[in-house]
Amino acid sequence: EKGGFDHFMLKEIYEQPRSIRDCMRGRIYPEEGKVQLGGIKEFVEKLKNIDRIIIVACGTSWHAGLVGEYLIEEYARIPVEVEYASEFRYRNPIITEKDVVIAISQSGETADTMAAIEMAKERGATIFGICNVAGASIPRLSHAGVYTHAGPEIGVASTKAFTAQVTVLTLMAFYMAQQKGTITQSKLISLLTELDSIPDKIQIALESNDIIKEVAAKIKDSRNCLFLGRGSGFPVALEGALKLKEISYIHAEGYPAAEMKHGPIALIDEEMPVVFIATQNSSYEKVISNIQEVKARKGKVIAIVTKGDTEVKKMADYCIEIPDADEAFLPLLATIPLQLLSYHIAVMRGCNVDQPRNLAKSVTVE
Ligand code: M6R
Repeated sequence: EKGGFDHFMLKEIYEQPRSIRDCMRGRIYPEEGKVQLGGIKEFVEKLKNIDRIIIVACGTSWHAGLVGEYLIEEYARIPVEVEYASEFRYRNPIITEKDVVIAISQSGETADTMAAIEMAKERGATIFGICNVAGASIPRLSHAGVYTHAGPEIGVASTKAFTAQVTVLTLMAFYMAQQKGTITQSKLISLLTELDSIPDKIQIALESNDIIKEVAAKIKDSRNCLFLGRGSGFPVALEGALKLKEISYIHAEGYPAAEMKHGPIALIDEEMPVVFIATQNSSYEKVISNIQEVKARKGKVIAIVTKGDTEVKKMADYCIEIPDADEAFLPLLATIPLQLLSYHIAVMRGCNVDQPRNLAKSVTVE
């Protein structure tokens, strides 16, 4: 049932070209420049007029929420707040009937996320669920929603569920932008055409597996690891760090690259691997100066770069290439090598990749 792979996690990583395709099926029409989301259609009028969206989730799903914040604000121009469900539920948050709450959960059974939904619902908010498991509690508690259709995820570390959540949020951002008129039709056509090719690009990103394995061998004995990114590369960094710590037990932290000088830079020495999301997008030059800061302190730099990059290659100790894509799709592509990197490190350290210690696939207690 692992389909010839050693672990479910690896199988699920390799399933992503297909799972993302399944997630988009019947939802995008690139030639027409149209996004169709049956699950939230009846709320179109509401979505055109809302003042803000609150996203609630835990763990990896919360990281997907952060990516969603970038996309929704960029394209639909609706302010978004992303909250840890566990914090949100115990505050006295300001929620009104005008709010839309998007709850993201692979399992649809996470206790804190469910409690956050219940509280927002009592205060009159409209709840959209983004869920992978059909018929789970969260879709039942929600007013409307969109399934991720990634198929069952067995590995405790979330991989294909994350990229499917990000895909759904991308679709929602484009859908809302289209409805609100904050995107031109020609831009939407070009974005959807590119989105349609993302599964193929993920396939190409997976082909770096051998190089990633070599990098994994070099850093597998590290005690710590930093992941840095800017813009939507920041949630990718957080996700890379979470993946590494949960399956390899290496202490890892994700940080916005520019925040490094406000503290974490003190940690940098020759023992510290620093993984940069250094693809060619709007923050490329800034990330390059952050890489220089790390190199000047003898840190070991592993960079996720755009195919054909030459600048970062001059400085980084190891580079892993991903195909070029519009910035909107950077999180979908840049996450792939980070999943493989943690996987190989964990295997090399002899860890139980699919069932890491102290963790459960769905966290049904608070
Ligand atoms: O099922 P959910 O998406 O609600 O789960 C949330 C987290 O427990 C989950 O993403 C967790 O962080 C994963 N093990 C991360 O890989």
